Amino acid sequence: MRGRGGIAAFRQRCGARGPGKPTVGAGALRRYDALVPATVIVGAQWGDEGKGKIVDLLAQESDLVCRYQGGPNAGHTIVVGDETYKIRQIPSGIVGGVASAIGAGCVVDPAVLIGELDDLEARGHTTRGLVFVSGNAHLIMPWHVALDGARERKLGNLQIGTTRRGIGPAYADKATRIGIRVQDLLDPKILRQKVELAAGEKNIWLERVYGLERFAAEEVVDATLRHAERLAPYVADTSLLVDHALRDGKRVLFEGAQGTLLDLDHGTYPFVTSSSPIAAGAAVSFGIGPQRIDEVLGVSKAYVTRVGEGPFPSEITGAAQERVRTLGGEFGTVTGRERRCGWLDLVALRFAVRVNGVTSLALTKLDVLSEFAEIPVCVRYRLPDGTETVDFPAHQSDFHHCAPVFEVLRGWECALDGDALPPNADAYVGFVSAALGVPVSLVGTGAGREAVLTLDAHAA
Ligand code: IMP
Repeated sequence: MRGRGGIAAFRQRCGARGPGKPTVGAGALRRYDALVPATVIVGAQWGDEGKGKIVDLLAQESDLVCRYQGGPNAGHTIVVGDETYKIRQIPSGIVGGVASAIGAGCVVDPAVLIGELDDLEARGHTTRGLVFVSGNAHLIMPWHVALDGARERKLGNLQIGTTRRGIGPAYADKATRIGIRVQDLLDPKILRQKVELAAGEKNIWLERVYGLERFAAEEVVDATLRHAERLAPYVADTSLLVDHALRDGKRVLFEGAQGTLLDLDHGTYPFVTSSSPIAAGAAVSFGIGPQRIDEVLGVSKAYVTRVGEGPFPSEITGAAQERVRTLGGEFGTVTGRERRCGWLDLVALRFAVRVNGVTSLALTKLDVLSEFAEIPVCVRYRLPDGTETVDFPAHQSDFHHCAPVFEVLRGWECALDGDALPPNADAYVGFVSAALGVPVSLVGTGAGREAVLTLDAHAA
């Protein structure tokens, strides 16, 4: 047990976990002796794992923080003293004055981004020369937001439960190659051409499929040109930026916006977002080779939450659901929606460790469980054919119809305000680490920035 703070020590410890790691060769050990230059912080559940706080903490020791996917569908809450920041698009490192980049794999709502820049500047933060937006990121246009809402309404009971921020439609246009990119903001002629082309097509959908009003292309062009003026100084080649930073031995932190199970390819499709929150997404978004990523820190709550629709095996039944929600303040940062709450799901977490290559885990909000005398943990799924598995089902029907098998651990029933965890909380963390085969390096013990314990006792 290491006590509070000590993030520099965390970085060194990422590799210095020594015992029981025979596959780490001498070269790797040498590398681990230095500060780890490139770390991905990835949500290991369905998003909202408390990544913002962990990023904020590690950002204090970083030179560059990079957001690699998503858009204003994410909401990171950072508490610094009396100030609360709710940031959706800019990586949260900016609050601590750390250079922050938005990668090509992101979608950007220009009005939201400008609102964030204005708010940060009004609170005394510098953004020019510190915030960089990839010219290859795509813009969320007003019709994307309209189409997102319209499609959800039309789907009725089958809706995905999106954040209605235009995320899916913006990524869809990217894939069909009629998207408008951030770099288009730098060329009014191209911008006008692209907006007119896209508006023509989107208006047909809006009118004929959803019975909604058309957008006047000229008005959208004018608004976008105004955005262009404000955002032009922030447009950058973020691939080159990261490449140079890594070559110069700088410490670069990559943060995903959503979580593993919301990944478009590997998540619980169709109840997913439209991009790649898994760790490999960082390399794709920033245009760097995957071998340049040194560490993958998976962030998981000590329990699970999910917003939106879709199966959720360890969802809590009965009064404990509301209790966890209230104790954990489980309401969406962006939408204010109630989050569904479940007991920790080790099957899903084992999957996250696998698909991300997680090298250590941060377990957040452990304090939320402090009031419970008994804490169930989902250790296996029982499949419809009666067999049980510790591995995440590859087929959606198995996942949709599986039942959780719980092991019940003893609670600690006291506050987590010391420099060490009480024995039963320590046992809980140790149980998770042993089941997953990865060390738990950080534990969240409260809302404040300082309420994080760094651990070295739970090497898997
Ligand atoms: P979209 O990203 O708005 O398209 O929403 C797709 C799915 O991802 C929905 O189930 C959302 O609830 C979920 N989702 C998107 N962003 C977040 C997030 O930041 N936290 C949790 N769930 C999210």
